[in-house]
Amino acid sequence: MKKYNVAVVGATGAVGQEMVRTLERRNFPVRSLFLLASSRSAGRTLKFKDHDIRVNELTKTLNITPDTLHVVLMSAGASISKEYAPLFAQKGSFVIDNSSAWRMEQDIPLVVPEVNPQVLGRNTRIIANPNCSTIQMVQVLKPLHDVAKIKRVVVSTYQSVSGWGREAMEQVYWESQEMLKQLDPENIIASSQDIKPVEDTGGRVLSHQIGFNVIPHIDKFLPTGYTKEEMKMVHETRKILGEDSLGVSATCVRVPVLRGHAESVNVEFAKKISPEKAREILSRAKGVILEDDPEKEMYPLPLKASGREETFVGRIRRDDTVEHGLNLWIVSDNLLKGAALNAVQIAEELIQKKIL
Ligand code: A2P
Repeated sequence: MKKYNVAVVGATGAVGQEMVRTLERRNFPVRSLFLLASSRSAGRTLKFKDHDIRVNELTKTLNITPDTLHVVLMSAGASISKEYAPLFAQKGSFVIDNSSAWRMEQDIPLVVPEVNPQVLGRNTRIIANPNCSTIQMVQVLKPLHDVAKIKRVVVSTYQSVSGWGREAMEQVYWESQEMLKQLDPENIIASSQDIKPVEDTGGRVLSHQIGFNVIPHIDKFLPTGYTKEEMKMVHETRKILGEDSLGVSATCVRVPVLRGHAESVNVEFAKKISPEKAREILSRAKGVILEDDPEKEMYPLPLKASGREETFVGRIRRDDTVEHGLNLWIVSDNLLKGAALNAVQIAEELIQKKIL
């Protein structure tokens, strides 16, 4: 079997580390693995298949040719991607980029392998990995759309802190510790009333305290009052499903969960579709697990989805306020299917299509 030289850019980050682990777990045919990050991490090592691999600084002077580097998985933020993805691509590497830098460019494919693998072609060297919240939603919506044609989607997300990155995971950790110190388990009601917000001692990366809190704000606000994260869900869903005028309205919320994004999704269809039919379709959908037995208190949970490659769906029920409506609850590990796994699956798809 042919083997490939693979680089992970942002290898020390929340997604980058999962990229390395996913390459190993899925036994991706790696010949050599290059780990790149900022100068802060140069010299650190990360484990890959029992080897300690050194992290190097990403610089423009890296000696890279198509023969030396076949695939670059990037997750070091949009500005790094804007600067470096074209450099790698010019040298002939296939760049699979996890940032928002290229997603809405017309000629750049935005890919969820279970949903729109047909857009991958020989002529593109940069391929965009969609936003985490979009991936898990379209994975569930596509098979329903194929049967009953979606008219409109209203989604509210409950997104874990790892979607922001490693530093937000650290933030929820220390803020929660500080909050616990203030609570008296013998007197939980009174002590919860007196509790004070945790002071920022310099490690806060989110706009507010997230430990014991919920923040209806992910990415920057736009003049419309929506956030960029919310508009990513709108535009990316349309692009992936190939439906330019699909109605999508999103509210994106950060919750104090380490891994796993949850979504309440309300869907209006053009054609009739019952909850039973939706369950039957989703029980056969690739990469999707139906967990829908309310009697047994069985429904998708971020804690259970954490570390899993599948996307989970449940709480499927009719919305009687429209002619053909359903409500769904969708959960997936945002670092895996929402980022690292989807990127590795794109590389696998390139191999399968003999593009790579
Ligand atoms: P480093 O750990 O050296 O800062 P996260 O999204 O979890 O915060 O991770 C961001 C990733 O992007 C990390 O691996 C980080 O490396 C990397 N990164 C940040 N800035 C740069 C840069 N200027 N050049 C290369 N990698 C970068």
